[in-house]
Amino acid sequence: MNYQEAYEKLEKYGQLQVLKYYDELNGEEKEALLAQIEQTDFEVLSLCKKKETLNPRGKIEPIGVMQLPEIEKKRDEYTGTGLEAIRDGKVGAVLLAGGMGTRLGSDAPKGVYNIGLTKDVFIFQRLIENLMDVVNQAGAWIPLYVMTSDKNHDTTVRFFEEKNYFGYRADYVTFFMQDMAPACDYEGKVYLEAKNKMSTSPNGNGGWFLSMMKWGVTDKIRQAGVEWLNVFAVDNVLQRIADPCFVGATIATDSAVGAKVVAKNAPDEKVGAMCLEDGRPSIVEYYDMTPELMAAKNEQGGPAYHFGVILNYLFRVKDLEEIVARKLPLHIVEKKIPYLDEKGDLVKPEEPNGYKFEQLVLDMIHELDSCLPFEVVRNKEFAPIKNRTGIDSVESARALCEENGIIL
Ligand code: UTP
Repeated sequence: MNYQEAYEKLEKYGQLQVLKYYDELNGEEKEALLAQIEQTDFEVLSLCKKKETLNPRGKIEPIGVMQLPEIEKKRDEYTGTGLEAIRDGKVGAVLLAGGMGTRLGSDAPKGVYNIGLTKDVFIFQRLIENLMDVVNQAGAWIPLYVMTSDKNHDTTVRFFEEKNYFGYRADYVTFFMQDMAPACDYEGKVYLEAKNKMSTSPNGNGGWFLSMMKWGVTDKIRQAGVEWLNVFAVDNVLQRIADPCFVGATIATDSAVGAKVVAKNAPDEKVGAMCLEDGRPSIVEYYDMTPELMAAKNEQGGPAYHFGVILNYLFRVKDLEEIVARKLPLHIVEKKIPYLDEKGDLVKPEEPNGYKFEQLVLDMIHELDSCLPFEVVRNKEFAPIKNRTGIDSVESARALCEENGIIL
């Protein structure tokens, strides 16, 4: 793309501010900026204006959940089925580690954060330790696919290499990168993060399967015979990965996807709740929970939307292949976005100053015909680290680790 074409594209979308420093750039820098302009979808920026009406919800109703007493009765059977699938190489794990972790406030990838008190305990290390439990139980290695982004790929890969994969087999670990999306101010004007670079942000965790395809990882999966992918978040340090009982239950119920859920600790807790939406499995996000939904009761008189998702899903690969071409809703999220100020100096804001655009893995559930919400014991499996202190923080996660006998 040449300057004139870039100018016209930007003018069409009202984004000419991107060229503010163009004349100051050297040849290489100019080329980089023009290439970025060519690759960027500016259409999404116009969505800021219709933010409130972007994703209308359908009819929300309660969904059946496989709860702990039922799971306990069938634990041995499900575990046996799950272990068999793992031993047959049918189960892979996908670590979503492309996020920016802005709330934690560290510039490094979230997984390299050290939650140890008396020794090093990195978040990535905790996850690998959890996965190793299953590897040891099954006597078989589980392929691990790690999604990174442009912002943290090199640091993440280097960290795993330096730490010798925390004892995991390196040939079972594959890294791939997700796409980026422009980040803008509240008026929908894209920010610059350098004189020759627009501000970008990872485009959400919903594009993980498409990114795997782009990187040729799905070919590897097909060759290896992997039929199920357990997708999980980087920030839950008690995350059980490729949990044989969960795998077995999802297979036994012939579900297109299994979703681990926990009992919510309050009707307005900030987690998405499992539900049916227009008769299909779905997740109603906390900010869409109306007072009516919070007060709604199920047939037994309990809360109707009581089970929250913890970003741990087991997807059947063949179903993913069928839905991959479908467009997922786009979410506009308020974030702290680094930008160049009037003087051209980089500012890292303390408070949110604009929007980024994300597709979310939870929206994939609604595309699938069947889902098994599978309850797990909250204090044993859910210790998310979003913030430094307070709710869902390093502090709360440390306390939960200690409660579970994990030495930090
Ligand atoms: P969060 O929604 O907590 O986002 O991610 P985040 O970017 O990590 O953190 P904040 O909001 O800036 O503080 C949930 C999971 O999804 C992954 C994260 O790495 C985490 O495992 N994720 C999120 C991605 O892989 N890519 C993304 O673009 C966003």
